[in-house]
Amino acid sequence: MATLVAPACFYCRHIRAHASGYRFRPARHAIGSMWPRCDWHWRFQCDLCGHARNFQGIAYCAHEQRYFCLDCSPEQRAQQGAFWGWPYYLRLRCPWRSETHGCLDRLEYDGRHPWQTDLDGRREKRGMSPAREIQERWSLRVEPVEKVTERVSRESWDASGTWWAGRYGVHGDVNREWVIDPALFRLLGDVRGRRVLDAGSGTGYLSRLLADRGAKVAGVDHSARLLAVARRQESLDPRGIEYSKGDLARLPQFDDDTFDLIVSNVVLQDVVRYQEAFREFHRILRRGGRLLFSITHPCFERPLPGRWIREPPDSDRVEEWKGLLVDRYYDRVAIWWGPARKPQAVGFHRTLEDYASALYDAGFLIARIEEPTPSAEALERKHREFADYLRVPLFLIVEAIRPSPPRR
Ligand SMILES: C[S@@+](CC[C@H](N)C(=O)[O-])C[C@H]1O[C@@H](n2cnc3c(N)ncnc32)[C@H](O)[C@@H]1O
Ligand SMILES: [Zn+2]
Ligand SMILES: [Zn+2]
Ligand SMILES: [Zn+2]
Repeated sequence: MATLVAPACFYCRHIRAHASGYRFRPARHAIGSMWPRCDWHWRFQCDLCGHARNFQGIAYCAHEQRYFCLDCSPEQRAQQGAFWGWPYYLRLRCPWRSETHGCLDRLEYDGRHPWQTDLDGRREKRGMSPAREIQERWSLRVEPVEKVTERVSRESWDASGTWWAGRYGVHGDVNREWVIDPALFRLLGDVRGRRVLDAGSGTGYLSRLLADRGAKVAGVDHSARLLAVARRQESLDPRGIEYSKGDLARLPQFDDDTFDLIVSNVVLQDVVRYQEAFREFHRILRRGGRLLFSITHPCFERPLPGRWIREPPDSDRVEEWKGLLVDRYYDRVAIWWGPARKPQAVGFHRTLEDYASALYDAGFLIARIEEPTPSAEALERKHREFADYLRVPLFLIVEAIRPSPPRR
């Protein structure tokens, strides 16, 4: 009769290949998978957000005797230095004190894993996640495009406006601050004295940055909720920005040939009638004026058409991500998304050609295209957040011109 033997832990094997004395432990989790894992190399639970995390993405503060994860740490540096076959470990900034801590892989290597220093904790498996499933942080739902009218879209932004705006600082969210805006401002050049429309202005953070650079800024958005955030800022700290409410597909509040420049930051993938929006932009731009917009990259945006394949599926080491699987590229769909258990916002997946054709049909000429990567500083300070952006872009920036004389 065959005897059943628990498989050895996937990560213990990895370590053993580099440290001959390392005793590997039997797997107790994900036993039927390609990546069976022992207790030590399973998931631990963050004491701040409550989420379970791969042991390589969670650190421990010995002073507070608490675990905290990548997402709850303001800074995640990739500390170079080989150990056990890994080339680096993540050092997370402590949320409680001015110090940093290594993640559990490195703490174990250094003999400072909480289970090495607190034997009661180890016996009780303190910190280990009891959850069998990976808890999804984001909720996603795909729907036929026809189901999402402009009104449905607007209401989704009103409903999700509170959590959306809560992620913003003076420089927007992390993607804007560290990836998109440095490229956007470089392409923009000097805006002093220019009439600029921030199309889909949201919280207005970009309108304010543009006004600070001397532009005469108008902002427009269809969400009353987000406009209220922008207008409150303007009344607290005025910069002369004029906000109006409206659908980008219909902008009767602006005369023909009004703006020198239209900026639209990560908006058009969310606009229901984007072709009409490009026509309106063309009408209200002066001849020779520029439209500069960013969108989530139509070829690689996640969850459609791109999805990262991670092995194991909860891996926080980007080098364990095998690649981005791209599929269903030609399916034009509406995608609802948001943090789990929060109201969702809706956007659309379209093809690159859809955007190029809409620009062409509206009378524009594409001048420049950029696929921005995170700055060196972003990679230094938020390694885990941005390392995958060096492999596959998440955003696309397009500069288009309203030609004068008109394109024939
Ligand atoms: C992803 S947010 C970006 C907001 C802002 N540009 C930023 O970078 O923070 C998309 C914005 O587009 C707005 N929006 C979507 N469809 C719109 C439409 N048809 N007309 C006007 N605004 C729209 C939403 O209300 C939301 O503020
Ligand atoms: Zn193990
Ligand atoms: Zn956390
Ligand atoms: Zn600490």
